[in-house]
Amino acid sequence: MELPKQGIAKDELFKQMRERKEKDADWRGARTFSLVYPSHEDVERVVEEANLLYLHENALNPFRFPSLREMEVDVVSMTAGLLHAPEGAGGCMTSGGTESILMAVKTARERAREERGVTQPRLVAPVSAHPAFAKAAQVLGLELVQVPLDADLRADVAAAERLIDDRTALVVGSAPNYPFGTIDPIPELAALAAERGIAFHTDACVGGFLLPFLERLGEPVPPFDFRVPGVSTMSADVHKYGFCTKGASVVLHRDETHLKRHQLFFYDRWPGGIYASFAMAGARPAAPIAAAWAVMRYLGEEGYVRLAGETRDATRRLREGIEAIPELHVIGEPAASLMAFGSDRIDVGAVGDVMDDRGWCLDRQKDPDALHVMVSPRHLQVADRFLADLREAVAHHGESRGVEARYS
Ligand SMILES: Cc1ncc(COP(=O)(O)O)c(C=O)c1O
Repeated sequence: MELPKQGIAKDELFKQMRERKEKDADWRGARTFSLVYPSHEDVERVVEEANLLYLHENALNPFRFPSLREMEVDVVSMTAGLLHAPEGAGGCMTSGGTESILMAVKTARERAREERGVTQPRLVAPVSAHPAFAKAAQVLGLELVQVPLDADLRADVAAAERLIDDRTALVVGSAPNYPFGTIDPIPELAALAAERGIAFHTDACVGGFLLPFLERLGEPVPPFDFRVPGVSTMSADVHKYGFCTKGASVVLHRDETHLKRHQLFFYDRWPGGIYASFAMAGARPAAPIAAAWAVMRYLGEEGYVRLAGETRDATRRLREGIEAIPELHVIGEPAASLMAFGSDRIDVGAVGDVMDDRGWCLDRQKDPDALHVMVSPRHLQVADRFLADLREAVAHHGESRGVEARYS
């Protein structure tokens, strides 16, 4: 496409965009199982209006937009409270889980260099850890060391102990991980790190806004947050189970001095004056900060507990329904709202293709081959329909119309 010689009228533009959008996944109808976290329309309206109110501002300079700085401080402080960060903790908002993880890895790398003289740092993470850690290792020059999983699909602590060495700058555990929804043995892993003066990061990008509320509902939630000694940093995404639109995550440090000393980028060797930034991004959108603040204040603890209950109930319904299909089994013991299911008898990829034909967007996994769901409150409304389609897809797997037919 070339830039049009003359501008196009607004009505025509939006018509074209709406036409293009028709091809996109129907997340409002809860047809997707990750990417978007549909809850209820009133929550969506609050987030939309907050976005609109701050669409044009820039969060790079807190002195020009003090209201943004205040809201960011509030979001960080509310999140720190949820995750039991102690007195003296600190943090900031980033654009998402990946950026929060990048900043935690940067902090650990700088700490290891300063405190232990580590010049060729390693990052020790379970094989189930999100690719954001591999990306961070690549970008920040660390060697990624992968810890295998135990029979329960959680990081193998004995293997982790063998893999941690003098060069290790950071040890990681997920609460929960994306592929299987299991929660790594955080206390054991964090202890291994702490005994050696190494930083430990709990990736609660998924669990940060879900596990605290499942705990309040009386569900068994293993220790994962700052109550575990040795957890140095955590990531928690407001744009996942915090029900904010994209672009909102929180990275927390047990010790705020690490945030200021190692995460902060400070520069003044250019004519443009002092430049300081806590994130990878320079100019930062203001809307996600405002939307995160608004949705957290709108829902409050009571609202989040209610939505966590709906997510739990939808997950249970789906799990029971999947396990009732003789050809399928859920893999491992998912702890929260994510699960993978596979088959010893049929090709689950072919089942996924038939589900695609019916408008359901399921992610594919390997080792073992599986389909993956990340459950949101709105899935409660479509669980029966999904399971009916899944039963038929299993019965008729191999009969997919194929990708070309689907997108033509
Ligand atoms: C466990 C976990 N960590 C980190 C991330 C990365 O988050 P983002 O996609 O917001 O960068 C994800 C994304 O799904 C995740 O599931």
